[in-house]
Amino acid sequence: MAEPVPIGVVTVSDRASRGLYEDRGGPAIEAELRRILATPWRPVRRLVPDERPLIEAALRELADAEACPLIVTTGGTGPAPRDVTPEATEAVCERMLPGFGELMRAVSLRSVPTAILSRQVAGTRGRSLIVNLPGKPSAIAECLGAVFPAIPYCIDLIG
Ligand code: MTE
Repeated sequence: MAEPVPIGVVTVSDRASRGLYEDRGGPAIEAELRRILATPWRPVRRLVPDERPLIEAALRELADAEACPLIVTTGGTGPAPRDVTPEATEAVCERMLPGFGELMRAVSLRSVPTAILSRQVAGTRGRSLIVNLPGKPSAIAECLGAVFPAIPYCIDLIG
């Protein structure tokens, strides 16, 4: 049996990280990955507040130490002052892949006019692809489902 592939699942939320609010984003990512992925995988979970240094540290650790080929974040992509997930992602990535954000917003806009408020980005750090998703669990399935067809090929290309 092949070793399960580690996939980073990062929830960015002040309230969930303080235990004031149940993390619904991380489990929603995992549910969607279970639905999509045929190969064995295991989640490497992190729950961090909306603090740039902590988000960056989690992303670096998942890419460099945990060697996750895919890292998916949820939350902190909006325009509020504490929403800094895209900035943290850009800071740790060597290259950005603007098509991911463009497609996710385009697909989301068909049903949710406020989808333009998400600044979600994707990029690569070494052999890892990092993809931001909005915080709402309904947005997670919609966005991940839209970009997933390109993800295995992208991971092949950077690996
Ligand atoms: N995208 C989808 N598919 N569905 C949604 O409900 N919510 C939007 C947007 N993108 C939404 C969405 C809203 S209201 C906001 S504020 C932004 O995502 C940012 O959300 P975040 O700060 O939780 O990441």
